[in-house]
Amino acid sequence: MAQTLRIAIIGTGNWSRHMHLPSLKKLAKLEDVAFAGVCDLNAEAARAYAKDLGAAESFTDLHKMIDALKPDGVAVLVPPEVVGNVLGQVLARRVPFIVEKPPAPDAATQRRLIREAEGMTHVVAYNRRHCPYITQAKEWLAGIAPQSVTTQFTRFQRREEDFTTTAVHGIDATRHLAGEDLVSIRLEVAQAGPVKNFFLNGWTKAGTRVDMVFVPDTASSCEHYDIRAQERTVLVSFPQNGMIDLPGYVELHEKNKVAARKGPADFGFAADDQPGLGGILAEHQVFCRALRGQAKPFSTLTSTLQTQEIRDALYPLMAHGGRAAAELVFAS
Ligand SMILES: NC(=O)c1ccc[n+]([C@@H]2O[C@H](COP(=O)([O-])OP(=O)(O)OC[C@H]3O[C@@H](n4cnc5c(N)ncnc54)[C@H](O)[C@@H]3O)[C@@H](O)[C@H]2O)c1
Repeated sequence: MAQTLRIAIIGTGNWSRHMHLPSLKKLAKLEDVAFAGVCDLNAEAARAYAKDLGAAESFTDLHKMIDALKPDGVAVLVPPEVVGNVLGQVLARRVPFIVEKPPAPDAATQRRLIREAEGMTHVVAYNRRHCPYITQAKEWLAGIAPQSVTTQFTRFQRREEDFTTTAVHGIDATRHLAGEDLVSIRLEVAQAGPVKNFFLNGWTKAGTRVDMVFVPDTASSCEHYDIRAQERTVLVSFPQNGMIDLPGYVELHEKNKVAARKGPADFGFAADDQPGLGGILAEHQVFCRALRGQAKPFSTLTSTLQTQEIRDALYPLMAHGGRAAAELVFAS
């Protein structure tokens, strides 16, 4: 592979422009990366993004872009409704990719994509997995199977029909912090005015209990992960845009004392650096290093499959209305 990585972008919407674009600009200063081209169905949006990013060319057809530029990798930043299809096209061209979450509309599609991606370098942009606070939490908990991971995932006035495309973050981060796949999970969906709340609890094989509360229409937005083991407690306040307690923190307790508390400056970020604190920059860096064979991605189609399986199981409960529950037991 040439020394300078040539990356192309597919999808220039809201999240792409506000989180990925600033991170990509920073990435170009940290890694030896050039942006080959930008593609969006909206030609003007693609052109404007390419100009901001310093990419020479813009396209409205991803196949034309791949044919013309032969990039080393692409960033697939398109909405959940189309991501499975777009990713399938990228896989057919055998181009390494980083893809926004959720990478597929359902687990069956994700399993197919896993087969098609066999041997291909890729990262699924579950950015919580790459957030510096969560990376620090994992380091503090290395070698420890927590007794419990408790997740409080709330939003302020989020009333969309399908909150699962956001809730997958909390499910995935909780699984990541628990350290392994779950062996079972109980799911409850409860209608609350115009929205549906999710209450999920389960177990890992090592006996870590996970409890997750998703309440999208509340008076304040927060995303807290509380990880408890006998010798150590770790608290994470994830710093998503709009959270009540920005810029968040990661805190370690030992012997009933606060042993350490870290915030943005401890990781070299300004308090308002959302892409840095949120893990967007780190996931871009993992992708680049993986393309060079210097890193092994840990957020992949395979490692995030169970997140999608849990998401799938929420749909029939959401369709039921009122309050509905189900239990999933995963084959070991
Ligand atoms: N990590 C997070 O917390 C977080 C937050 C918000 C969104 N996201 C994810 O980011 C992704 C993108 O979100 P967004 O807000 O940028 O979406 P958006 O809806 O604002 O824009 C999507 C863009 O993709 C383009 N597009 C669609 N199909 C295409 C195709 N075949 N070829 C080229 N372009 C195509 C559209 O023209 C549009 O400009 C979604 O998967 C979403 O789930 C993640």
